[in-house]
Amino acid sequence: MNTHDRDALIQHILLSEAEAQSRLHNGMNPQVIRQSLGPFTSEDAGGSERVKAAIDAYLQSAVKTDLPEFMRAFWGGAEPASIIGSLLADIRNTTMHSFAVSPAATIIEREMIRGIAERMGFNANGIFTTGGSNGNELGLLCARENLIPGSHRTGIQGHRLCVLTSDESHYSVDSAVNRMGIGIDSIIRVPTNDGVMQSPHLIEAIQRVKGEGMEPLAIVSTAGSTVRGAFEDLNAIADIAEEHGIWHHVDAAWGGPVIFSSRYRNMLDGIERADSVTFDAHKMLGASMVCSMFLIRDEEILENSMAHTKKGDYLFDDPVSSQSLGRISPQCGRRADALKLWLTWLDIGSEGFGLRVDHCMDVAEYIANLAQSLDEVELISHQFTNVCIRFTPKEDETPEEGDSRVRKARNKLEQDGTAMVIDSVLDGRLVIRFAAAHPSITKDSVEEFLSNLVNADRT
Ligand SMILES: Cc1ncc(COP(=O)(O)O)c(C=O)c1O
Repeated sequence: MNTHDRDALIQHILLSEAEAQSRLHNGMNPQVIRQSLGPFTSEDAGGSERVKAAIDAYLQSAVKTDLPEFMRAFWGGAEPASIIGSLLADIRNTTMHSFAVSPAATIIEREMIRGIAERMGFNANGIFTTGGSNGNELGLLCARENLIPGSHRTGIQGHRLCVLTSDESHYSVDSAVNRMGIGIDSIIRVPTNDGVMQSPHLIEAIQRVKGEGMEPLAIVSTAGSTVRGAFEDLNAIADIAEEHGIWHHVDAAWGGPVIFSSRYRNMLDGIERADSVTFDAHKMLGASMVCSMFLIRDEEILENSMAHTKKGDYLFDDPVSSQSLGRISPQCGRRADALKLWLTWLDIGSEGFGLRVDHCMDVAEYIANLAQSLDEVELISHQFTNVCIRFTPKEDETPEEGDSRVRKARNKLEQDGTAMVIDSVLDGRLVIRFAAAHPSITKDSVEEFLSNLVNADRT
């Protein structure tokens, strides 16, 4: 394929997408999808015609996440400028380890980090990561290097470390603790009230684990929890972390975008006192996957935590290596993801980001009020843009039967392509978790969704 064919195919993708059916998907049967996509590999050169056929097959069976019926995730579709940013990164295909091979992208990445940190009032540096999960892991690795300087060399032998976090924090915290060799049994799950860690419980937990000879490695706060959308009181936790000398990592992967909303900015008050922060631009801000950053007050700790042990100097020996980002990343090859945030920011501005947040907040409030007004459903929780609902129990219905109604209705909507939403356990019961995360979800569309949900329960 030559560049002329390439450009024609890009045009073809854009035209096909513009004309694509407004359906979430054309079926979820794995065998049917597999059959329509193949062949997957080829011995001979099929050229642009075969590539075109493959593109068409993909567009036929890939979920259309930009539709209002897509409510299954914290993202959906992508801002046009971000798609251009993604293409731009591919056109000048490079990697982010060294200034020499990515001078422009390195400066852009640093400016994006600075721009987000500044809006948080957080005096920080940082790095783009493979996602919020990776950001949380980096936070804990840095906390370890902070607590036990040199532990990237010595390991953690002789230390009984533990991590304090809410019982509703994201599973990536568990996963990171496991990968660090600490073990998930060392996570102290601090009880919450409506998803928010309570200071007395946190203080009690710190005193208890210290009394048992454990060393608290970090407190991980969540700003926008996955199911409930809860925001911790970041100032209260910062007070406790500072008093006890414990690293404070804030997982703002979901809730971070409120920094752009003048109406809701105060939900993140206190984030500027964190030691490290996870922030995803690929969720509510509309950057395409993946566009995520890890922010840290003390960049030297991050560099030590990466433990490159001065190897790989051949990669970094350019004249302006002091500018290079490679030494503070766990990745060697790394995509120029910052370009997506950069172009989107220039396109819609901070104001546009704020409007995305405010719109999602308005839609969530609307569906929460609607749910409250309907006899058929119960509003279980509404925080941020997360709204959790259950069907009103029938007479003599057991909680398990209620769970199975939720699962059945959700599956039905997903299977027939009416709506995609998740169900999740909250306070021990299965709920439909709705989240307004992208602008095509509107008050009209959520009204229709609720009506379809109620009908799915009836059939
Ligand atoms: C609170 C929270 N933290 C972290 C993550 C992980 O982010 P990512 O999907 O970018 O790895 C999520 C994902 O939804 C999340 O909800």
